[in-house]
Amino acid sequence: MLPTCKTIPLETNYIPQEDTKSNLEINQSAANSSITSEEKVNSTKSYPLSEIEEHLDVNDCWVGYGGKVYDATDYLSKHPGGKSAITKYCGTVDEFTEALDAKHSPSYINKLPLIGTIE
Ligand code: HEM
Repeated sequence: MLPTCKTIPLETNYIPQEDTKSNLEINQSAANSSITSEEKVNSTKSYPLSEIEEHLDVNDCWVGYGGKVYDATDYLSKHPGGKSAITKYCGTVDEFTEALDAKHSPSYINKLPLIGTIE
């Protein structure tokens, strides 16, 4: 005997579900995901070298690389090679670039939050 086919009724009163996530929630989940800093921050701010050089402290550490400025402060204590490997280059562009290139592949820079470009 052939199986009987059931008729599925058409939904005539379908109301689309509203997106309940706010923009803030979406941004927060992006910040917690593994996407790179470059994707996270669309920063168009540009800083003169003199301003980068002011952020040379362990609690306020900026570095320049590839024409861009990164805030390394929060990464210092997470660095597997130790804090001091990076702290000595806080507030620098050329020195940091040389040190990073000597030790790591350029893509490592994307672990740091991008804050702008070098003027
Ligand atoms: C953007 C900045 C940096 C990031 C994100 C970073 C990231 C890392 C990571 C993930 C490791 C673990 C091992 C590996 O993956 O190779 C590591 C190890 C290490 N890093 Fe860095 N690093 C940075 C800058 C530097 C700088 C400027 C130096 C200075 C020379 C340095 C020196 C080291 C050393 C000595 C190790 C220990 C392991 C080894 O000798 O390879 N790092 N770093």
